[in-house]
Amino acid sequence: MADGNGWSVKLSGVPETLLWNLFMRAYEARRPRPVLEDPKAVELVDRIDYPFEETFGAPSPLRAQGQALRVRTFDDAVRAFLGEHPDGTVVTLAEGLETQYWRVDNGRARWLCVELPETAEVRRALLPDEERRRTLAQSALDLSWRDEVDPARGVLITAQGLLMYLRPAEVKELIAGCAERFRGGALVFDAVPRWFSARTMRGEMRTAHGYRVPPMPWGMNAGELDKVRTAHPAINEVRELPPPRGRGLYYGALTPLLRRLPAVRNVRPTMTAIARFD
Ligand SMILES: C[S@@+](CC[C@H](N)C(=O)[O-])C[C@H]1O[C@@H](n2cnc3c(N)ncnc32)[C@H](O)[C@@H]1O
Repeated sequence: MADGNGWSVKLSGVPETLLWNLFMRAYEARRPRPVLEDPKAVELVDRIDYPFEETFGAPSPLRAQGQALRVRTFDDAVRAFLGEHPDGTVVTLAEGLETQYWRVDNGRARWLCVELPETAEVRRALLPDEERRRTLAQSALDLSWRDEVDPARGVLITAQGLLMYLRPAEVKELIAGCAERFRGGALVFDAVPRWFSARTMRGEMRTAHGYRVPPMPWGMNAGELDKVRTAHPAINEVRELPPPRGRGLYYGALTPLLRRLPAVRNVRPTMTAIARFD
């Protein structure tokens, strides 16, 4: 709702986490030499009337950069898809206030965001739909969204920051539902490892400021990626998408090396992957 100072956004539980992500993207984008250019995120944070810092605490530069690199991994996957399918459809499940369209759109593709009604309302108010970019107000688990997608010119589905909040059986059904309908398409998703999921389920994951991360029932270690193929026979490839190299010692030098060590691979707090459908 708009008041004198800006758009007042009231969300709770999992939907509220989108504001944390937005806040970190904008924080990184404001830094000198950012790993992610995201002027639209900066604009949104300035427009929204919400106690970002009081709720989540001041962003840690390391965490914000990590988040931005994860976002870049998704952007790169979408860019690669649009390179091959310039008139294709990008389905963004649980897009929140992601501003990826403004970072990577090619002026031709179709975009369909599938979001919970309370989030869809906020998104539509702040980022109104356009001819090529629509928002559907429904759960991604209600697979009727698939009927809204024209698969003729290629389909890429993204689930950025979604699957960990679902139950394992729901994750399997959602992936299977995508594979069943969109042969030749792909799903890009991220996952948290099992130890991380378990800690959120016990209510132990908090920011330094005290914000409690909502429960994440689905966790999967990087070493288990191949299991995703069992969701549906049309899944012919599942592989990790490594994040781009970042800035500084940790993201610029250490993480690209550590990722290759099996012991470290399974304990990293997030991983992004692509599942391709035959
Ligand atoms: C961590 S936020 C991620 C938002 C955005 N993708 C990003 O990375 O900034 C989680 C998002 O999941 C959405 N969400 C949760 N359950 C959902 C469901 N069943 N269907 C669609 N969206 C869902 C919430 O509304 C929220 O926008």
